[in-house]
Amino acid sequence: MKKTTTKIVIGLEKPIKVIHFSDTHLTRADGRDDDRKIELAKKRRSGPFPDNELIFKETLEMAAQGYDAVLHTGDLIDFVSYANLEAAREFAETTDCFFAAGNHEFSLYVGEAKEDAAYRAQSLDRVQAAFGNDIRFDSRIIGGVNFVAIDNSYYLFEEFQLEGLEREAAKGFPIVILVHNPIYEETLYEHRMSQGECAYLVAVPEEKMQSYPAYRRDQQRADAITLETVEYIKTEPMIKAILAGHIHCDFDGELRDGLPQLIVGKKSAREIIIE
Ligand SMILES: [Fe+2]
Repeated sequence: MKKTTTKIVIGLEKPIKVIHFSDTHLTRADGRDDDRKIELAKKRRSGPFPDNELIFKETLEMAAQGYDAVLHTGDLIDFVSYANLEAAREFAETTDCFFAAGNHEFSLYVGEAKEDAAYRAQSLDRVQAAFGNDIRFDSRIIGGVNFVAIDNSYYLFEEFQLEGLEREAAKGFPIVILVHNPIYEETLYEHRMSQGECAYLVAVPEEKMQSYPAYRRDQQRADAITLETVEYIKTEPMIKAILAGHIHCDFDGELRDGLPQLIVGKKSAREIIIE
């Protein structure tokens, strides 16, 4: 597992050191689940995630190295199963991880259905019970930094999340946001489009989605609250950085001058020194 180190300067009296993980995609399933889930586990493990158990082991080891905070931006599990949720509980308990949900946290079977609020509701309570913080919106102040986790993993922010973020800003601490899905910015968009049929980013301008397959355009189109939230994130001076995952590779960008958006890949850990 690769480890990089990044520094963010926001004017803390005493620096803190945190570690950021994302997209572990655990693929455990056993006899407590049905045969379809066990088949899915085999397929996903022999397909896109052959080394996720090794990465999870290294993640637990790295998380134990005395960081001020352990942060994870979602897709810890690839799909809902008894064994995956047990692993999530173990991870949350042993690392005291502060967590933002990814889209896969609520996948009953991968890619089986349109993923929306109704789909998420089928597993939300069961998934939430495995984690130590509210995985759809929560905050935790550590060393003078207010870490705010927001689930935007269906490419949307919601009204309660924008209102919550505004309340967090009013607390007067510098904010670092954790989201699963990165927010659109030009350089990242160009990078993504050089690699595939769409960018998998939040709030991509409509004209920049013209070449997307129609179902991807529908999946990734922002609504009014999402656009309002993105604008708020870009302009609220208390917001100092965004940490994200979802695209499975490292990327260092900026939503605007001086507002870094740091993405960590599925085989990476990013140590962040905040000072
Ligand atoms: Fe992922």
